[in-house]
Amino acid sequence: MFVISNTVFKTYMKDAVEIETAIIGILTKSGVRNGDKVIDFGCGSGDYAIPAAKIVGERGAVYAVDRDKGKLEELRRKIRDRKIENIVPVDAAKNSGKNGGMDFENGAADVVLLFDVLHQYYFPSVESRRRVLREICRLLKPGALLLVHPTHVNQANIIDEIEHAGFQFVNRRAGNLIHDVRQQRSAILVFARE
Ligand SMILES: C[S@@+](CC[C@H](N)C(=O)[O-])C[C@H]1O[C@@H](n2cnc3c(N)ncnc32)[C@H](O)[C@@H]1O
Repeated sequence: MFVISNTVFKTYMKDAVEIETAIIGILTKSGVRNGDKVIDFGCGSGDYAIPAAKIVGERGAVYAVDRDKGKLEELRRKIRDRKIENIVPVDAAKNSGKNGGMDFENGAADVVLLFDVLHQYYFPSVESRRRVLREICRLLKPGALLLVHPTHVNQANIIDEIEHAGFQFVNRRAGNLIHDVRQQRSAILVFARE
């Protein structure tokens, strides 16, 4: 059996709390508010869905969408352990797929998160990125926010592509974010739906 010392465990927990607090800070600065309905598309195991859920509170909700059943199971375990009630895991693979796995009503969301997902690994062609952005446009109310953590992309190009899909670039919020399990200085791109 693998045993870790009390000190290692405490350091790990302290780091986890600090990272979560930093993410709450940058999401808040980027415009996520209490009461918001947030869709975290490609949520993974919830590194951003969980801090977002803390911000939106019980009047809001986070719809955490992913097609990877393993990641969603990990997220469900965290939700159970931490008794989080305002995250709804959504299995994109189970949906018809006609809307890129996002069977929500028009204007259902105040904020959509696209963190480490809008890039060549998952959306290799310009047309595939256009399709998902069109769908996100449909889900957001006019003036509502699309937040993007741009990874594996040229930032100027991705801003251009997103603007062409019906969004206006608002600003860039720098902070400590998680990418591939590591914490790193990075930025969130903030867009408003036109
Ligand atoms: C690199 S992970 C990022 C996870 C999380 N957003 C983060 O930043 O920590 C990308 C996630 O997007 C999911 N994904 C990619 N394409 C998707 C699609 N078309 N529908 C739903 N989920 C998708 C993958 O399964 C994966 O869990």
